[in-house]
Amino acid sequence: MSGNPYHEDRGNKDRSITNAQGAGTIPWRKSGATFPAGEGPFLIGEGMTGGYGRGPDILHDCTIAVNPGEIAVIVGPNGAGKSTAMKAVFGMLDLRAGHVRLDGEDISALSPQDRVARGMGFVPQTSNIFTSLTVEENLEMGAFTRRDDFRPTMAQVYDLFPILKEKRRQAAGELSGGQRQQVAVGRALMTRPKVLMLDEPTAGVSPIVMDELFDRIIEVSRTGIPILMVEQNARQALEIADKGYVLVQGRNAHTGTGKDLLADDEVRRSFLGG
Ligand SMILES: Nc1ncnc2c1ncn2[C@@H]1O[C@H](COP(=O)(O)OP(=O)(O)O)[C@@H](O)[C@H]1O
Ligand SMILES: [Mg+2]
Repeated sequence: MSGNPYHEDRGNKDRSITNAQGAGTIPWRKSGATFPAGEGPFLIGEGMTGGYGRGPDILHDCTIAVNPGEIAVIVGPNGAGKSTAMKAVFGMLDLRAGHVRLDGEDISALSPQDRVARGMGFVPQTSNIFTSLTVEENLEMGAFTRRDDFRPTMAQVYDLFPILKEKRRQAAGELSGGQRQQVAVGRALMTRPKVLMLDEPTAGVSPIVMDELFDRIIEVSRTGIPILMVEQNARQALEIADKGYVLVQGRNAHTGTGKDLLADDEVRRSFLGG
């Protein structure tokens, strides 16, 4: 793929994606890959401490980040605070300590809506689609803050997820789990995000559908949109991750490249089933 300096080896098996002639160059944003990889995080929640309301702290000095052009994956046991960390980065949690920076700018004080306006796309773990609306209405909802013509973006979403075009007049709630997740990701893409945050995008889908979704996520990242993603399929996710974070009880337990974490004995024993 020309013009993309990133990711010679993501461990992905689908060569048609890796060597895509056109699919990987969909210009979601004309200014997509502005930064060379390796020049510091594009999005970082750094030293985050906080919890829900007056409750106890869930996050303890927790840091998660994604670099330009990369896929960062957060894994860890149930209840570790992965979703909480994502919500904190998106501005849904009051932090007692730490900050969130987007493209070098401190956005800790911004509301989630303002973060969307700055280019953050977030697909939460639950309730991430409007089940009673059609597929196309869901995508339109994603674009509702845009004043320009969003149809080209919708065409790109349909190119990425052809099944959604087929089912565009169907209620999203009638779709399979994997298709619903495509709707959720598609809706986030309709804002033309500069960075995409996904909380368990493959929850509840079969291994084949999971592979397919990962391929599409890689495809999006290759268009220059960095991806910060929580995954319960830790091994498979780390295989496509440039950077991995293992969270345990709201703390960073292990951090490294996906490859490093997959090779780490302690990580393998404790989190990858040996
Ligand atoms: N809305 C909430 N209000 C209060 N506590 C919550 C809320 N959501 C999650 N928690 C608590 O925060 C902790 C971390 O949860 P979560 O971030 O969802 O973990 P994970 O995504 O890693 O499974 C858990 O103890 C959970 O009970
Ligand atoms: Mg979660």
